[in-house]
Amino acid sequence: MERITTVAALGEAVSAAKAEGKSIGLVPTMGALHEGHLSLIRKAKEENDVVFVSVFVNPIQFNNKEDLAKYPRTVDADCEKLESVGCDYVFLPSVEEMYPEPVKEEYHFGPLEEVMEGPRRPGHFSGVAVVVRRLFDLVKPVRAYFGEKDYQQLAIIRNLIEQIHYDIEIVPCPIVRADDGLALSSRNMRLSASARAMAPAIYETLQQAVEMAEYEDVEEVKEWVVETLASFHEVNPDLCPDDLKFEPEYFEIVNAKTLQPIDDWDDAADDGAVGCIAVWLNGVRLIDMVKF
Ligand code: PAF
Repeated sequence: MERITTVAALGEAVSAAKAEGKSIGLVPTMGALHEGHLSLIRKAKEENDVVFVSVFVNPIQFNNKEDLAKYPRTVDADCEKLESVGCDYVFLPSVEEMYPEPVKEEYHFGPLEEVMEGPRRPGHFSGVAVVVRRLFDLVKPVRAYFGEKDYQQLAIIRNLIEQIHYDIEIVPCPIVRADDGLALSSRNMRLSASARAMAPAIYETLQQAVEMAEYEDVEEVKEWVVETLASFHEVNPDLCPDDLKFEPEYFEIVNAKTLQPIDDWDDAADDGAVGCIAVWLNGVRLIDMVKF
């Protein structure tokens, strides 16, 4: 695997691959890699001749300075993992290399960004779009891989591709979970041992919600999920030491394509419905999703 830190060297590697007629797969990441990322890279390896992975903690997608400062940076461990799954090139630019000039570009996604993460993280999706477009321009991939855990991000990136008319296939990849069901995330490493032990209750609750959806209406299911997690520490005090509790920020049941909240299961009949959740636990914001 070749480590690349400059845009110029990246351009050379991309040109060489293109000159040989090789198809390029791109996996954009912010590092702190786990099995979820590695599953994207394995899929990219299966479907492309050459795989480029970017590792860049993109400052302009953080609307909270503390979150940016706390974001784990584990470059050497990341590179070892990338080698182990056969990544061909890793692009590790500095902020100055990625953004030599102040960023003026802005993207808007209409109703797609008016729900869930959008209003809570102003500017976040525009920041994601700026870096993803820049990576697309530099790497010129045939396919790019994104996890379904960030479900709204995936919809935003599909919309970006339509806005900029790029011929890149966006490949969605299923959530990878720990054996106890917790969705893998770079943020999980910030959970205390007790919080980590509680965290699987998020997915357990979502799975029960999917069962409830067989016989309850949308509003009932939504309320039940929020209440179940918000009262978890009262119902299960033994499982919640150190005053730990879940603080649900939102749980929305939305049309899987438009991301607009649905009132009735039939409203999403053709596109399907997904449930997306953000929950605070132990000072860490966890997100997850299920398909109904
Ligand atoms: O999902 C992420 O890790 C980031 O939002 C992405 C797509 C790499 C852009 O910085």
